[in-house]
Amino acid sequence: MSAAKNILEVEDLTVAYGAVRALGGVTLAVPEGSVTAVLGANGAGKTTLLRTLSGLLRPRDGRIALDGRDIGRTSVEDIVRAGLAHVPEGRGVIVELTVEENLRLGGLIRRDADGWALGDVYDLFPPLRERARRQATTLSGGERQMLAIGRALMSNPRLLLLDEPSLGLAPRLVAQIMAVLLRMRDDRGLTVLLVEQNARSALSIADRAIVFNLGVIAIDKDARLLAGDDRLRHAYLGF
Ligand SMILES: Nc1ncnc2c1ncn2[C@@H]1O[C@H](COP(=O)(O)OP(=O)(O)OP(=O)(O)O)[C@@H](O)[C@H]1O
Ligand SMILES: [Mg+2]
Repeated sequence: MSAAKNILEVEDLTVAYGAVRALGGVTLAVPEGSVTAVLGANGAGKTTLLRTLSGLLRPRDGRIALDGRDIGRTSVEDIVRAGLAHVPEGRGVIVELTVEENLRLGGLIRRDADGWALGDVYDLFPPLRERARRQATTLSGGERQMLAIGRALMSNPRLLLLDEPSLGLAPRLVAQIMAVLLRMRDDRGLTVLLVEQNARSALSIADRAIVFNLGVIAIDKDARLLAGDDRLRHAYLGF
């Protein structure tokens, strides 16, 4: 995996909300076909990073390259077409629509015509097939998370960003979601950038871990080495 090229390169990225600087000079690279965990306390800047990568926020300074192409000023739609999909904090499912309508929406803008179809998402998440015609309001938290991931996959991404997919889910469901992400990496070559408060779960599947602290990177390290480092784990991850 060390020989893999970087699908994403971020250089000296600074993002602010008015006078509040949320990211201050962040530099990182994400190798293709890897799972990278993005960890850190509340307010560390994790969501801001994801929202900036997917074009929802504009950087104040710095460079973002997806596959070598600068996307710092590219529209959200064109970033999706370039192969980046974002599963937002709080899931972002449209609850008035059915499961299938949500999935079809996810496929409206996509990288290319091949790749993920409804049936593939239903194979990955069988509960969604059974509930295809139901309104998303009727779904459990775990099913909504499946739907949010499925919807993102419908754009046929190469890089998938997830913002705290485990939030509010029972441990069994968290383990299921993590296992699915690993399978996506191994079977489909998908690259995953996984923001988590649940550091233990994220580290269990990650190749690499980046820990943010107050808008800057405190640690960027092999995930197993971080998980095995008692001092860093206690100091930064609290377990
Ligand atoms: N819309 C906003 N307007 C002003 N400040 C914001 C806004 N969103 C976030 N911030 C601030 O930016 C900083 C980073 O926030 P961000 O949401 O990116 O952190 P986070 O790591 O995702 O936190 P959490 O773990 O709580 O989700 C914080 O200081 C936060 O208060
Ligand atoms: Mg957040």
